[in-house]
Parts: sequence; structure tokens; C-alpha cells
Amino acid sequence: MAIFFDEALKTFYLESKDTSYVFRINENGFLNHLYYGKRIAREDLTYSVYLVDRGHGSNIAGRPRYESLNVYMNECPTYGRSDYRESMLAFFFENGSRVSDLVYKNHRILDKKPELCGMPSVKGGETLVIELWDSLNSVSVELFYTVFEELPVILRHAEIKNLGSVALTLDRAYSFAVDMPDANWDVLALPGAHLRERFAERSPLSHGIFTVDSKRGVSSGQMNPFLAVLRKNATEESGEVYGYNLVYSGDFAFKAQVEQNDELRVVGGINDHDFAWELLPGDMFTTPEAVMVYSDAGLGKMSRTFHDLYRENLVNPRFVKKSHPIVINNWEATYFNFDTEKLCAIIDSVEGTGIDTFVLDDGWFGKRLNDRAGLGDWFVNMEKLPHGLTPIIEHAHKKGMKFGLWFEPEMVNANSDLYRAHPDWAIHAPGLEPCTGRDQLILDLSRDEVCDYIIKVVSDILKNNAIDYVKWDMNRTMTDNHSASLGKRGKELHHRYVLGFYKICEALINGFPHVFFEGCASGGCRFDPAMLYYFPQIWTSDDSDAYLRTAIQYGTSMCYPLSTHSCHVSAVPNHQCGRVTPYASRASIAHLGATGYELDTTKMDPDELAEIKAQVDDYKEIEDLVLFGDLYRLNDPQKENLFAEQLVSKDRSKALVTVMRPLAIPNAAAIRVYPRGLDDDATYFVREGNLTKKGSTLMNLGIIVPFAPRDFSTVTYHIKKVD
Ligand code: DGJ
Repeated sequence: MAIFFDEALKTFYLESKDTSYVFRINENGFLNHLYYGKRIAREDLTYSVYLVDRGHGSNIAGRPRYESLNVYMNECPTYGRSDYRESMLAFFFENGSRVSDLVYKNHRILDKKPELCGMPSVKGGETLVIELWDSLNSVSVELFYTVFEELPVILRHAEIKNLGSVALTLDRAYSFAVDMPDANWDVLALPGAHLRERFAERSPLSHGIFTVDSKRGVSSGQMNPFLAVLRKNATEESGEVYGYNLVYSGDFAFKAQVEQNDELRVVGGINDHDFAWELLPGDMFTTPEAVMVYSDAGLGKMSRTFHDLYRENLVNPRFVKKSHPIVINNWEATYFNFDTEKLCAIIDSVEGTGIDTFVLDDGWFGKRLNDRAGLGDWFVNMEKLPHGLTPIIEHAHKKGMKFGLWFEPEMVNANSDLYRAHPDWAIHAPGLEPCTGRDQLILDLSRDEVCDYIIKVVSDILKNNAIDYVKWDMNRTMTDNHSASLGKRGKELHHRYVLGFYKICEALINGFPHVFFEGCASGGCRFDPAMLYYFPQIWTSDDSDAYLRTAIQYGTSMCYPLSTHSCHVSAVPNHQCGRVTPYASRASIAHLGATGYELDTTKMDPDELAEIKAQVDDYKEIEDLVLFGDLYRLNDPQKENLFAEQLVSKDRSKALVTVMRPLAIPNAAAIRVYPRGLDDDATYFVREGNLTKKGSTLMNLGIIVPFAPRDFSTVTYHIKKVD
């Protein structure tokens, strides 16, 4: 049992082994938050409620002046009833009122978390459901809290029902709100851009509102739906951290607000910037799921908790615990310029290296000679591939390799048969020529007929060809936000698009259970937990430069397990930034994820091909660590001329330490790395360096890393317990 209700105190205790989350029903029926953090005793916490009349405010009608919702910590803050901070929910009623009065009605405790309507979510057990009721407007709000005994995790979402006889509008429907009793916090977010996604950034909180969000229709590479709130003294290894992540692939917002009381409120969910949802009588709206993780041991423990949770309860179980394909992808080898012979030559060239999957990227369909035409026409380009896909697929299979195919089904080019037949299927605003991105338009997935079309064309290809792997791309973000089918309900478009996208994923991923789906959006521009529910790995960034990848993969690892980061060895000079890094370094960094290759192997000499085999053999040796291991980030590559990460098996018998020194320094001081997560008293053999030492020695005295005198040198250590 993780959820307790004390009837006398009217208090709920949500407890995991190490955490407590406590709130009560107060005298007025409001849910008054009391505590979230390290596990504490199950007792009366009302002494901590600090009610004072702060002046120039307001209080609950008929109650003492100090009883303002603005001085309570609230579980489900709404607008207009004396709480001036950010709301979790906002309504617009038929009579013009925006003020709701939600009070406790009842609660129940379920053994198993119910699935969310139309959206992916984390699997969970014991769940508290609290119903709040607004009798004036006949609105019911159910708040869901799922608790894990073994993991410091709480899952939250809400269901809002219109039980009245007239329509109402939801202007904001966030997934959670958490109030904290002081304001001494930093925040860490994952901002970025295409080719440099998720660069971790920490900043102090001060009075006002700190917001991370996306308005692009996708979770985006510009900001990830993740926010950590940390104590000022928190580090990678110590101090309190609260991590928030949203299981959602569209517009999101997280807000951290410090107001007059010097307390902190964190709220988050679907971005309400361009959102409104009409609830007709009887309708229900479900918010996406928010994941809340508490760590008393810094960012590292927070990340390991997210990783364990997602590997066990989120990522597609058909693939999460299995070897991922080791891919050779033709994109950077050929771009659009290929024919059957070239593709077969790539397959031939990697025979015997251990690469087990060939992925045919963009350009195989329609009139796709470049990126200005063809999207939407999902039939083979017979000029380029006169015998279709079959000879290439058969060739790969004959060589013992699987075959993967690239799609970008959410998009259409104006220069395509699909667009010529259905121009209205592309998202556009009335009377305006729609903005393009990479010369393409976005199909309106809020419309059933468009989703059905996509399901049918992709299904037909998967049915008629022996395809083992799909790379699902999405290369622009949304503009011209209007849907002909939604009319005045236009502000529902972005969320309906996301729901349509999930419907397509459900149909295809369940319809073709043997197919391994990789997610991609110009690289990592839609990397979120909902995508991971469907796609066990996501192309982390179009930037495959080993040096920049250290920061990208470091930031991505804040909440997403390494097995989900798709990482390729690519050519030098790097196609994105022109940098030349050693071959071995490119492999070492690509081994910190689901590894693969993205270069023209037909141009490699026998030694370079032999090196691929050695790299793949090495990867096989550490793959279990990538799939199941605990991650320790040994330093922050954005702060130092050093990147060091370690993976440790759950039983602490095996570890890998990967270290890169970006810039060579002559006559440099010794660079030491300090492994973590080993058993103090066990003896370990460090293969490189031929060292046999106790865990305590390695972790406290460290290992001196002998870098080669060149930029971007990498050293890896394979560590094994010997007794
Ligand atoms: C963007 C992806 O991230 C690349 O890997 C490649 O698939 C291109 N799109 C193809 O257009």
C-alpha cells in the first residue's frame, strides 16, 4: 500500500519507499497541499500551514481575512477565487463567467492506473482518484495520482467532465500543480535548436514566472518538456531535485512561479497559448500525464529514476529489453543520389562487420529527387529504383541483414500528387498561402480521413514488402494554425493533431508488431516520453559530430535512458559542422546509445571496414550496460574541457567509463576521472591500464587518463568485478 487516507485528519499520504507527498481536504473543501519530498512520518502536518493576512488581496467569502487561497498551498489551483498565482485549470462558461469553485466530492483508490484516453502514458499500479465538483457549473474534475513503492515517482493527470446541460470551454487544462513552501531554488531546463538539441541550462529562480514551452505543435528541439527544480546546493551527486516531464508530443508549458509569499508553484501541461477546448454536455477532456521524480541525491539519481521508470513502464515492451538493430543508414552516404546498385553495394560493403540492418532513407518514393517534391506520394520512384524495393530488400535479407525504410507521413509537398488531389488536407489559414518549412506542408491530422489515409498507405507498403524497421521522420513545425473541419473550434487543432498522430502510431505499431520503429524529427526535434512509448529509440540529433554529441547526449540523458538515444558514427569532416574527430572517438561516443553507422562504407578501405567490425564487437560487449545499466555523469561537458560518463550494471559487476578531452593541452596536468556506483569492497579489473583495484580505491583515488596528443581524443575503460 502506498496511498493512505486519514479520515480524522482528512489527509492523503502518498508514499514511496523514500518519498512522501501529503495533502488534505481543508475546512472549505479545497485540497491543501502540505508536503512533497523525502519520506517523513505519517502524522498531522497542519501546523505547517501558515495563514496570514498579507493585505491588498482577498479571502474566501465569510472566512477570516487570512484565509485566502493565495496563502494556501493548493493541489488544483483555479482562477478567480483569491489565488492570484498560475492556475492549473481555467474555464470559460456559457454565461461569460470564468470563475469556478471546485471542492472535494469523493475519492477512490484503484489497484491499477487506468489508461489515458487517446494518449500514451506510463504503466502504473496504485492510483488515487480525487473528484472535485463545481456545483454551480456542473463540472467534475478528477485528479489522478499514481504512486510507486519502489521508485520516487508520482504520475499525475486530470479528467474534466461537463455534467451540465450547456457547453463550456476549457481555456487551460494543465496536468499538475505543486506548491513548495520556500523559494530557494534553481531550475534546469533543456533548451536547444536543430543540430544542438537539449543543451542543459541551469539558472536561479527569482520573483516572477520562469517558463519553458513549445508553441510549435511538437514537443520541439528548441525546448524539451522537462524541467528540474533544484536546491541551490544540489549537484550531480547531492542535494534535492524535483524533475518534471510530460508524456506528450505537442505544445507544452511548464511554469515555475515565485510570488509575494516567497513560495514556489510549479504547474505544467498542454500549452494554453493557442488552446481552448469546447466541452459539450457529457464530454470529457483528459490531460496528458505528468511524471514527477524526487531525488535526494542530485541530478544523477533523478536521471536514473527516470531511466528505470521509462525502461520498465513506458518504452514499447516488445523492444525495450532486446538488442537494438545496428544500422547502416544511407542518408549521409548518398543523400538523394542513389540507385539499386549503390544501395546493394553499401549492403555488400558491411557484410561480416556485425552491422545487422540496412536503412534506406529519404528519396525512394514519388518524384523525390530533392527535398522540394514528392512527400505524400508513398509509392516507389521507378526511375531511381526500376525494380522497386524488392531486390534491395531481398539483397539485404540474403546477406543476413534486416531492411529498414524511411517515411515522413505527416507531411506533403505542394509538388506531389497527394497535394494536387487534396490541397485542403494541408494545414492552412483561410485566404493565406501557408508558410512552408523545407518546402513542405503539414497534413491536418485533426481530420479522420487524413489519418485513415496515412494508416492505409503506410500499411500497404509494410504489408507488401518485407520491412523490418521504419524510420519515422517529421521535418518542420506548425504554422497557419487553422483546420477547415474545426471552424470556430480552431484552438483545438494542435491537440487534435497530436491525438491523430497517436491514433496513427497505435494502428501501425500494433498492426505491425514485428517492425521496429525509430522516431525522428529533423533529428531530435520531437524527443519526448510519448514518442518513446511508441518508438524505442529516437534519432537524437542530425548533428552526429562526436564532440557536439557529448553535450547533446548529456542533456538528453537528464530524463531519457541511453538505449533510446540513436547515435551514429558518421564521416569526417562532419557534414554538419566540418569538424574532424578521430574514428575511435566517434565510435566511443556513438556507443553511449543505440549505435549505428551513417557514412559511405563503399568508400572505406579494408582496414576501416575491419575497424567497424572491432567497434561492433566492442559494442556487443557493453550493450547490456546501454540497455539496462545505471548512468553516472562524471562531469558536465559544457563546463569543462572534458566529457566523462559511466555505465554500471545493476549488480555492480561491470562498468564502462568513456572519457573525451575535446582540446589537447600540451604538458597538461593529470586528468583524473572518479568512477562511481562500484562496490567499495569488491576488486575490479580495469582492462585498459591493466589495473586491479578495489572499488573504493578507483572511486576515491580515481584513474589518470592518458590522452593521445590530439584534439577530441577518447579513452574508454572496461571494468569488471573479479571477486
Ligand atoms: C532529417 C533526418 O533527421 C535525417 O536523418 C534524414 O532522414 C533526413 N531528414 C532526410 O530527409
